[in-house]
Amino acid sequence: MRVLVIGSGGREHALCRALGLDPAVSELHCAPGNAGIASVATTHPVVPTDPEQVVALAVRLGAELVVVGPEAPLVAGVADAVRAAGVPCFGPSKEAALIEGSKAFAKDIMVAAGVPTAGARVCVTPQEAEAALEAFGAPYVVKDDGLAAGKGVVVTADRAEALAHAAACERVVIEEFLDGPEVSLFALCDGTTAIALQPAQDFKRAYDGDQGPNTGGMGAYTPLPWAPEGLTEQVMAEVVLPTVGELARRGTPYTGVLYAGLALTQAGPRVIEFNARFGDPEAQVVLDRLETPLAGLLHACATGALGEEPAPRFRDGAAVTVVIAAENYPADPVKGDRIEGLDPAVKDAYVIHAGTALDEEGRVVSAGGRVLSVVGTGADIASARAAAYAQVGRIALRGSHHRSDIAARA
Ligand code: AMP
Ligand code: GLY
Repeated sequence: MRVLVIGSGGREHALCRALGLDPAVSELHCAPGNAGIASVATTHPVVPTDPEQVVALAVRLGAELVVVGPEAPLVAGVADAVRAAGVPCFGPSKEAALIEGSKAFAKDIMVAAGVPTAGARVCVTPQEAEAALEAFGAPYVVKDDGLAAGKGVVVTADRAEALAHAAACERVVIEEFLDGPEVSLFALCDGTTAIALQPAQDFKRAYDGDQGPNTGGMGAYTPLPWAPEGLTEQVMAEVVLPTVGELARRGTPYTGVLYAGLALTQAGPRVIEFNARFGDPEAQVVLDRLETPLAGLLHACATGALGEEPAPRFRDGAAVTVVIAAENYPADPVKGDRIEGLDPAVKDAYVIHAGTALDEEGRVVSAGGRVLSVVGTGADIASARAAAYAQVGRIALRGSHHRSDIAARA
């Protein structure tokens, strides 16, 4: 199978790595890719949010499966264009991707489908925002309604800060605070049915001890030894299948990965957010543990044939990933610094590139906020963690920072 992956982050590197290990994949391409992806796939310089460019490339390559990684191309209709050109595509349509692209749309779907989530109000004026903050009380949760790369959410006890964020956004969703550990569950969907991958946990705050600003994610691990028995089955029954059913009922069937970000509250799992793609960095650890060949699963989703697939298998043991972020991430990351120590020197650890590029001399330099991550694996979380941090300790990037407590409490 000739496969084309769209995107250039750590998630796409993890996807390419897993696809490259699938014997059914004869050719692997990625557009635009990054310095690390170039070592496992042929990369192509296209604008990933331009449907015409992506379709032209897919057709020229004779791609039999296109996998769209990030949200921006999905929201731009890239998956629709690829499907319209007759190429099987793993990734939701523009309309279905609104589950991530609009928090208000996601809430509407959840209410219609009876999916447990935080009570919420959509607010445009300062008066509406004030009334909503009053109604829900502190801690305040204020979310930009549009796409914000995981950075549009402010959770604060400070009313002035909450109001300022609301004022800075055109439209916000203000909602009830959900208390409890967070879990990311990815469900592969083919429009009518869905199957779950293994749950993972992400670390969203920039600094140790869950301090500092929200980021796209600073590290992740799987499996979750502390998760309640039957969690995946419960989330599939209460969240994923009703959501997929509601989207199909509305004539916008969901094909791709539905990412449920959940809070495990006293009252049970509640949806914090949906994403229309694999979470990053969670995808790195989940795909590391997936034993079932990936291309076949994604192709089954793209062709509406998931019902014929056996349940996916996962390897025993654990995976932990630690993100190395650029100086000043998430505010205003510094780019263009050289990175040393990338060679795999630690058994059971490998490097996933996110914001990297090659300079004129062919050396790897930083080119984004989350520059790269190190995935460690082992028989248990402690050994996977040790492997990841041993390799992290060998990597040098001026001014960079990483969390030292990823998966520590697990
Ligand atoms: P989101 O972009 O919606 O995932 O929000 C980013 C982060 O903000 C989440 O991972 C949570 O840590 C936090 N968050 C979002 N919504 C809530 C909520 N209703 N209650 C508590 N924390 C929240
Ligand atoms: N790791 C969280 C996200 O991908 O949004």
